Amino acid sequence: MREKLEQIKAEALRQIEASDALEKLNEVRVNFLGKKGELTAVLKGMKDVLPEERPKVGQLVNETRAEIEKILEESIRKMEQAVREAKMKTEVIDVTLPARKNNVGHRHPSTIALEEVERIFIGMGYEVVEGPEVEKDYYNFEALNIPADHPAKDEQDTFYITGDILLRTQTSSTQVHEMEKGQLPIRMIAPGRVFRSDEVDATHSPSFHQIEGLVIDKNITLADLKGTLAEFARELFGESTKVKFRPHHFPFTEPSAEMDVTCFKCGGKGCRFCKGEGWIEILGCGMVHPHVLEMSGIDPEKYSGFAFGVGLERIALLKYEIDDMRLLYENDIRFLKQF
Ligand code: DAH
Repeated sequence: MREKLEQIKAEALRQIEASDALEKLNEVRVNFLGKKGELTAVLKGMKDVLPEERPKVGQLVNETRAEIEKILEESIRKMEQAVREAKMKTEVIDVTLPARKNNVGHRHPSTIALEEVERIFIGMGYEVVEGPEVEKDYYNFEALNIPADHPAKDEQDTFYITGDILLRTQTSSTQVHEMEKGQLPIRMIAPGRVFRSDEVDATHSPSFHQIEGLVIDKNITLADLKGTLAEFARELFGESTKVKFRPHHFPFTEPSAEMDVTCFKCGGKGCRFCKGEGWIEILGCGMVHPHVLEMSGIDPEKYSGFAFGVGLERIALLKYEIDDMRLLYENDIRFLKQF
């Protein structure tokens, strides 16, 4: 038996010696130490050994097994080390190669402009709210003093979903939602998408964005409107910006006006950018019509307010001197990267 074990051991060592790859060493392990390996076979042959000799033989088998195992492990460790060293020699990392560029996106110019407007009004104590894009006729028109037969309601300019439900044409509808909540005073801006049945050109799109503003409190006057919007213009376009209010008509404000700012390119002298005018139109505004307050449950004898509406794309186009609104929607990365 002893001889048999010596033979097995010698053969195992010979095979380990001859192995030139990890897989080969693994084969040796299976062949000699595995369940169907030679040493296991010897243990299975124990029944032919005299009972009093069995412990002795068992011990011998275990010793042989331990020896083979030890040498095998050592060989595997050495082999792994050799493989690693060979890999280090052949795999050279060239630190002078240019790094792979990470394409990080950034905010859209309209988003940058919106965040700027929000920052200015939040700084003045305003809340930023949102209203629904799919709107009832009542909120988009009726409650804003635009009754069924009003020319501003021309069906051509509106996307109707049913006779009574439509895609809002103006963020002014959020004024009504805020007033209906019945929590006064109100100091809010409401940015959002609006829709009109317009053909696409350099200054029109069937979908664009507005930022609505509404302030309602006791003793709010036209002076508050002018002071607030003049400050807004200075923060947005620069400290030296002047504003001008031209009388206008909006059904939900009385009086109503459009606000122009001095051209921030020429300072008001007149240039190509402002088409020689010196002034650039920026927004519509006015004192909230008493009937509009009343319809939303606010007593016009106690409260008054002002409102305004700004086109977001218009602000972005002006701020970044972009001459075609379509560029904002095309999402051409070469264009967007510039801002
Ligand atoms: N909703 C108007 C529009 O789309 C803009 C506007 C004008 C909003 C005057 C206002 C306002 O709140 O007071 O043309």
